[in-house]
Amino acid sequence: MKQLKIQKEIKDDYATTEAFNTLKTNLAFCGEQNRVIMVTSTLPGEGKSEVSLYLAHALAENGKKALYLDCDIRKSVMIGKYKIEGVDKALTHYLSGQATMDDIIYSTEYDNMYMVLAGPVAPNPTELLDSEEFRKLVAKVRGEYDYVIVDVPPLGVVIDAAIVGKYVDGAIVVVEQGTIRKRMVINVIKQLKRSNINVLGAVLNKIDETNSSYYSGYYKGYYKEYGEYKN
Ligand SMILES: Nc1ncnc2c1ncn2[C@@H]1O[C@H](COP(=O)(O)OP(=O)(O)OP(=O)(O)O)[C@@H](O)[C@H]1O
Ligand SMILES: [Mg+2]
Repeated sequence: MKQLKIQKEIKDDYATTEAFNTLKTNLAFCGEQNRVIMVTSTLPGEGKSEVSLYLAHALAENGKKALYLDCDIRKSVMIGKYKIEGVDKALTHYLSGQATMDDIIYSTEYDNMYMVLAGPVAPNPTELLDSEEFRKLVAKVRGEYDYVIVDVPPLGVVIDAAIVGKYVDGAIVVVEQGTIRKRMVINVIKQLKRSNINVLGAVLNKIDETNSSYYSGYYKGYYKEYGEYKN
């Protein structure tokens, strides 16, 4: 297996570490059957990719074999954003028959943490994800990793999350504080449920500490709340 290098440092300050420890604990309380977890949101930019990557990293630090699987094949930003080096083949290469499954899974400089990047943008993302190849990939990684954290586009914008959701055990919805209306989030949760996707909970992200003394311990923190959504 080839190894990639993430040049951008994954923050490990106290507040971030604490926040992700809580998220891991809450995930564990959702039941150990939840191992393939999709991370979605309502709108772009709410922090899905960052939460997915950090969650995979936090699980790996705990000794879990964790795979970050980038299924946002409508845009390929992770390599640039996290200054990732050493990636030759990625998900769209595999889904379009240009690479094998083994070609696209990379180890990282972090013990236990593995990654599949999205790859070049394909003209037919829905078709590529709604395929036998994708199903086979998830079946394989499910058998080989303790956790698979699946990064997808926002469900309020495109349907890909509902397609990918067919293969996951549950979904976490990232909600950026103060940017979207409650009704929109509820609609996304309803849509996940209509697609028979188990909603494990939400991560309230990008908390504005200046407005809330309660969160003062969290530097640009993450707050997690798990539970049943009645709506
Ligand atoms: N808790 C946080 N505190 C500060 N900045 C954050 C936080 N979470 C995410 N960000 C920043 O917000 C921006 C958007 O995050 P990210 O790319 O993870 O969102 P996304 O939901 O994956 O977006 P997209 O829908 O475009 O894929 C990034 O610059 C990221 O570094
Ligand atoms: Mg993203």
